[in-house]
Amino acid sequence: MTASVLISLPDALARLQAEPELFVVHDRNAAWVVSSLMESLPVRASLALETSEEAKTMETVLALERQLLEADATRGALLLAVGGGITTDLVGFTAAIYKRGVRYANIPTTLLAMVDAALGGKTGVNLDGYKNMLGAFRMPEFTCLCPETLRTLPEREFKAGLAEMLKTFLLADGSLYAEAVRFFTAAQRDRDPMAKSAQNAPGLQKFIEAAAGIKARIVAEDPQEHGERAKLNLGHTFGHAIEHEARRQGADLTHGEAVAMGIILAAELSERQGVAQKGLAAQLKADFTAVGLPTESPYPVADLLEALRKDKKAAAGGKVKFVLLRAPGDVVLQELPYDCHLHTK
Ligand SMILES: NC(=O)c1ccc[n+]([C@@H]2O[C@H](COP(=O)([O-])OP(=O)(O)OC[C@H]3O[C@@H](n4cnc5c(N)ncnc54)[C@H](O)[C@@H]3O)[C@@H](O)[C@H]2O)c1
Ligand SMILES: [Zn+2]
Repeated sequence: MTASVLISLPDALARLQAEPELFVVHDRNAAWVVSSLMESLPVRASLALETSEEAKTMETVLALERQLLEADATRGALLLAVGGGITTDLVGFTAAIYKRGVRYANIPTTLLAMVDAALGGKTGVNLDGYKNMLGAFRMPEFTCLCPETLRTLPEREFKAGLAEMLKTFLLADGSLYAEAVRFFTAAQRDRDPMAKSAQNAPGLQKFIEAAAGIKARIVAEDPQEHGERAKLNLGHTFGHAIEHEARRQGADLTHGEAVAMGIILAAELSERQGVAQKGLAAQLKADFTAVGLPTESPYPVADLLEALRKDKKAAAGGKVKFVLLRAPGDVVLQELPYDCHLHTK
């Protein structure tokens, strides 16, 4: 694997075997991963989580802290998170503050967590309905990539991760992007949308490792998000505005779906700004449709811009930092007025 923080299951098991104080915190929906893949581990205690954004809170962190205290966890403990991004965010934060910090490691069980959430050391919880308001930067000891764990993941969750994976290739490697689109288009056509078949599994593994490797490299170069790391926000400025509108209207939309739509809007903006050649947005739309991702925001751009304008963090001083695309694999950061999408150059 490309970056040292990323390791395979056999390597992870070997390292965990030597842990004197191993605590596993797992998503209930991924309990089978713990029982079937890790049965031989010397686990001191195994704690199960009922995951939801509503339960991704300080209260849940405190409940975990108490359980650790009751189990006499010392500063030598290692917490192992087994689950999606909610689990890895919660466990990372719990580890960051327990007795002023203990180690943790991730075995992500969603595609989104494998290529995004379980990498980079951003941990945290929601506060009063506001996402990720409390948190800390704390790097995991390792993140173990084991695509086998995706066996039971719902297809919609898989697609949410696919959007983040394609985003990563779009900002870093145009040829990997094209290759991944061809691969997932073929898988979709062969009625194997999650690339589970024996024939497709090695391809899926390769793309997961490549996307995770790119993210791990970017965060290693810019751990505190001063520069390069901002590129990972491709599609997220509009994506967050779309999620905001969806929440306001009670619509059911995953983060990945919003990001896919947000990337198309970012590509349209890139064309309008003269950064990308005409046709890029149409090409991405065709690609996303072929792999089974949505491309059309259900909300008018004017409403999204209004949401951006109100978002003090996104639109500081009337300007928003956008990640624009020159072409697949080539992005540029630009600060633009929040209503730039309404004007053509
Ligand atoms: N820290 C970061 O850098 C970062 C980056 C991106 C996202 N995030 C956070 O990650 C969270 C989203 O992560 P996610 O999409 O993985 O969500 P999630 O953890 O909620 O998992 C999605 C769903 O899949 C279920 N699940 C998990 N693994 C499964 C499996 N193997 N089989 C069956 N079901 C399974 C979960 O129970 C849940 O219902 C958000 O809270 C977001 O804020 C963090
Ligand atoms: Zn995202």
